[in-house]
Amino acid sequence: MLKVALILAGVLVSLAEPSSVSLSRVHCDKNPKFFSTLNVTAVNSTITADIELLQALKAGFRGHVDVQLRLSNAKNFQSLVQSDTDYCELLSTLKDSLFRRWVKSVTKNSNFMENCPVPAGHYYLKAWHVDMGLVPSYLLSGDYRLRAFVYYGKYRTKKQLFLVQCIVEASMHNK
Ligand SMILES: *[C@@H]1O[C@H](CO)[C@@H](O)[C@H](O)[C@H]1NC(C)=O
Ligand SMILES: *[C@@H]1O[C@H](CO)[C@@H](O)[C@H](O)[C@H]1NC(C)=O
Repeated sequence: MLKVALILAGVLVSLAEPSSVSLSRVHCDKNPKFFSTLNVTAVNSTITADIELLQALKAGFRGHVDVQLRLSNAKNFQSLVQSDTDYCELLSTLKDSLFRRWVKSVTKNSNFMENCPVPAGHYYLKAWHVDMGLVPSYLLSGDYRLRAFVYYGKYRTKKQLFLVQCIVEASMHNK
């Protein structure tokens, strides 16, 4: 019910005016067995990254993504969307989707490739910014916090092998 209300409200807002996203902060943690360098920074609403991957990421790693929203006048963040997916599987099955467009947008500004497994090596991302075409138009104004947790095995169990986690903070403004 809340979701429907949010979407309806969002549609009304987004019909009114286009919007913009500003990235305020990004913070990542790594498993040092897999990454020797993981420097991800947000400057001027763009993200720059310098990554040294020590060993190939074999198919089967998963991303647990949690998006939280704090509306303009609210004190606390609320969970908006949570998903848990096998990256390689998603990449091979979804040929045209929002996920695919995000991956394409990121690869344009970097030497990342859309392949699996992900070979060891040096990766960079240069001043990538969020293209508004990638943002669902029903999103509301407010502060967003996105947490992406990448791992092998089973989430939050003893069988989980942590690879990397990034938390991105952004604000969405509907003008
Ligand atoms: C991380 O990247 C930023 C932006 O490119 C750079 O200014 C900074 O020196 C880097 N830090 C390290 C520890 O390499
Ligand atoms: C950030 O943007 C400001 C204003 O457009 C510019 O003066 C500054 O050089 C930019 N900083 C970087 C690191 O790109």
